[in-house]
Amino acid sequence: MKVAVVGATGAVGQLILKTLERRGFKADEIVPFASERSAGKDMPGYGTIQPLTDETVQGYDLALFSAGGSTSKAWAEKFVAGGATVVDNSSAWRKDPDVPLVVSEVNPDAINDARKGIVANPNCTTMVIMLPAKALHDRYGMTHMVATSYQAAGGAGQSGIDELAAQIPVVGASVDALVNDGAAAAATVTPSTFVKTLAFNVVPMLGTVGEMGYTDEELKMRDESRKILGIDDLKVAPTCVRVPVMVGHAIEVRATFEQEVDVAEAREVLAAFPNLIVEDVPTPLEAAGRDETFVGRIRRDLEDPKSLNFFVVGDNLLKGAALNTVQLAELAVARGLTTSA
Ligand code: A2P
Repeated sequence: MKVAVVGATGAVGQLILKTLERRGFKADEIVPFASERSAGKDMPGYGTIQPLTDETVQGYDLALFSAGGSTSKAWAEKFVAGGATVVDNSSAWRKDPDVPLVVSEVNPDAINDARKGIVANPNCTTMVIMLPAKALHDRYGMTHMVATSYQAAGGAGQSGIDELAAQIPVVGASVDALVNDGAAAAATVTPSTFVKTLAFNVVPMLGTVGEMGYTDEELKMRDESRKILGIDDLKVAPTCVRVPVMVGHAIEVRATFEQEVDVAEAREVLAAFPNLIVEDVPTPLEAAGRDETFVGRIRRDLEDPKSLNFFVVGDNLLKGAALNTVQLAELAVARGLTTSA
């Protein structure tokens, strides 16, 4: 079993390496790949970082990608041609009807439809919602979802983590400015990964604006939820917001069902779902570094007995990215996808 990790120097790539190790993934060789900037450098424990070339991508059983959409578009099929099954963490292949979009606890059987030899890992925000959504959908039949996210800086990769960490001491230096002249406090730093200053702030713009003023990140919530849950006409009202949290995405969801919801029963359904923990007050800080997804503030809608409100939190780098990638790698091996490749 020869495994390539593409984007091995990134925030998610490094966690993929750690997660493979922690879960005892049986590999004879794990080879790190990154951009030309890093190729040739040593990655302690894994040897020399490889560049992506027609020669270097040959002969793998598995390739785990987290190096951005354009890298996946350009190189995933070449790894497949060279013998690998690809698990891709970017958005490059998620909408392709021949590429299954899989959350390991939600729709594992979809992995059998990897007709291109590529399996897509969902967006980190959608991923977290899917565990409670699937649990409740199976019991009550979901028809609508209003989802508003509180997304961590780490969702933008290492550069997002670095930008927030650098802003906090500078913007936080003057409490007086934060209280009396917020625009002056915001102007003490220059945002680059985020569209506005993130430290001590909330930024309701995340991604590129597209259809009807919704961002691509918001439209992913609609499109990916439909594909993963297998509800083609699921009505989704998505809003994505960046908050000054390092790691851990949170989403407030109002889900509407075909049937009336019983809150006590809904709690039981959620608590019984694998890797989902019901807590009174789940927070992103306490979810950071954890494999499980946390759900709480479970309340029936004040007006509509068919709607339920809940708050769901998960580590965007782990379950939202690296952990599910490794779970899909394990699933691909278990289902024999790597032996036929
Ligand atoms: P590098 O460190 O050499 O730039 P993050 O999401 O944390 O920003 O990480 C992105 C990852 O994708 C890094 O490992 C980065 O490598 C890698 N990467 C970015 N662009 C390319 C590219 N064109 N080819 C291969 N790897 C890339």
